[in-house]
Amino acid sequence: MSSLSTATASWLALRAAADDTARSTELAGLLARLLPLGPVVLHDLGAGTGGMTRWLAPRLPGPQEWVLRDGDAAIVDHLDLDAVTDDAGRPVHTTVVVEALETLELRAFDGASAVTASALLDVLTREEAARIVSACVAGGAPALFSLSVTGVVILDPPDALDVAIGDAFNAHQRRDAEGRRLMGPDAAPVLARLFADAGWGVRTAPAPWHLGTADAPLIAAWLDGWVGAAVAQRPELSDDAEAYLVRRIAQLAEGALRVTVSHQDVLAWPR
Ligand SMILES: C[S@@+](CC[C@H](N)C(=O)[O-])C[C@H]1O[C@@H](n2cnc3c(N)ncnc32)[C@H](O)[C@@H]1O
Repeated sequence: MSSLSTATASWLALRAAADDTARSTELAGLLARLLPLGPVVLHDLGAGTGGMTRWLAPRLPGPQEWVLRDGDAAIVDHLDLDAVTDDAGRPVHTTVVVEALETLELRAFDGASAVTASALLDVLTREEAARIVSACVAGGAPALFSLSVTGVVILDPPDALDVAIGDAFNAHQRRDAEGRRLMGPDAAPVLARLFADAGWGVRTAPAPWHLGTADAPLIAAWLDGWVGAAVAQRPELSDDAEAYLVRRIAQLAEGALRVTVSHQDVLAWPR
């Protein structure tokens, strides 16, 4: 796996509550109805510490076997799934596969009842998304991919530098990283188009973070990453961005900053 992932267990823990509130329960409900009766096998891609499984497993029938796939052997050491149950309260069973998605086998999802992912697609390339879609189609497994960033961020109160920082951040998300052109905010539409072109049904739903005073630690960490990536993309913003960050952190300390970070969830299924 390339060294692109910046996810750490502490970052995933910090964002977990906002992620859980944001994911579309409507699409999860539709996925539940697409599953066969009896034991089900679910593959979660970019599983991290297991956030998607913790949220989704209790919304789905079982018994459930989860195959948790991630390219980072260190992060899956922090998997935390001991208390996870299906919708009938039965514990879920898990298997871990450490594997970069760049080498995903076409038949990887044979026998799978569904494939899931969360907060993953935007750090992949179109080729990798196409490979995932091909494997879902080959296995006939419906897919629920949640929390792909759309590039739309709203800060309240507004600031004259918001647009420049946001544009630079989005350009950074679409950068060429070690020869891989990342999808960034294009991820959800690209995925939806790939499934639609394969003749599959597709539904999308918004999954925004709405962050306020109670989320101050998450806002502070997110702001730091957002502005930092913008400056990495456009170093000439550096001085203005430093002053911007000071203004924003002061507003946060006063309880006067709210942030909406838009994401999109995508459900796809064979017709
Ligand atoms: C932002 S974390 C999301 C973790 C989890 N899905 C969640 O929602 O909490 C993204 C995860 O995808 C994994 N990942 C990123 N790119 C990958 C790739 N090309 N192949 C395999 N795993 C990848 C990272 O190691 C990381 O654990």
